[in-house]
Amino acid sequence: MSTPYRIAPSILSADFARLGEEVRNVIAAGADWIHFDVMDNHYVPNLTFGPMVCSALKPHAKRADGTPVPVDVHLMVEPVDALAEAFAGAGADYISFHPDASPHAHRSVQAIKARGCKAGLVFNPAAPLDVLDWLVDDIDLVLIMSVNPGFGGQGFIDSSLRKIEQARKRIDACGKDIRLEVDGGIKGDNIARVASAGADTFVAGSAIFGKPDYKAVIDGMRAALAR
Ligand code: DX5
Ligand code: ZN
Repeated sequence: MSTPYRIAPSILSADFARLGEEVRNVIAAGADWIHFDVMDNHYVPNLTFGPMVCSALKPHAKRADGTPVPVDVHLMVEPVDALAEAFAGAGADYISFHPDASPHAHRSVQAIKARGCKAGLVFNPAAPLDVLDWLVDDIDLVLIMSVNPGFGGQGFIDSSLRKIEQARKRIDACGKDIRLEVDGGIKGDNIARVASAGADTFVAGSAIFGKPDYKAVIDGMRAALAR
């Protein structure tokens, strides 16, 4: 990669009848990661897919030369641990969860890492970052929600920019290699602002899968990031 930025298309907005093909197409279009939104109709009102779908898609998550593309699992489920373990077995590279969905967030992080995956914490628009006081040294990714979790295609919540700035300060102070990902309402016309606030990894669902030319959208996002 020539930039530190990663673009992680969310297959939540892909055609569910052709998921393998959609994953291959979006990787060919330049996706860096595949973002996999797991919803349980309990922590969030929506219901999506589980570890069996992740296992089925894993062989599709690679470049033409065979290089694997990281599978970035975003768990919107409660409780966390059993499903996190199932996703580790299903080929997830990153597993992120909402700390308010786990009674023992530290234990959930350890469970994810013990299975060889990278662990992330996800913060809803109204959630404070306080948990990072105690867990930042143990994680690999911070995911800031810029919409309320549960649905694609929502509008970006501007107050998340302040939270991204705060998360960036905490990550820099800790000095570890931790990615700062943002999820919700990211498009070509706001991605640069989100990067300026400190984000380095960008989830985009409807902005990419809602358009006929995935490469044009991803190229446009990279061009905005480069400016
Ligand atoms: C929302 C999901 C997002 C969603 C983003 O709960 O976590 O990953 O797919 O979709 P867009 O990019 O359409 O806001
Ligand atoms: Zn997500």
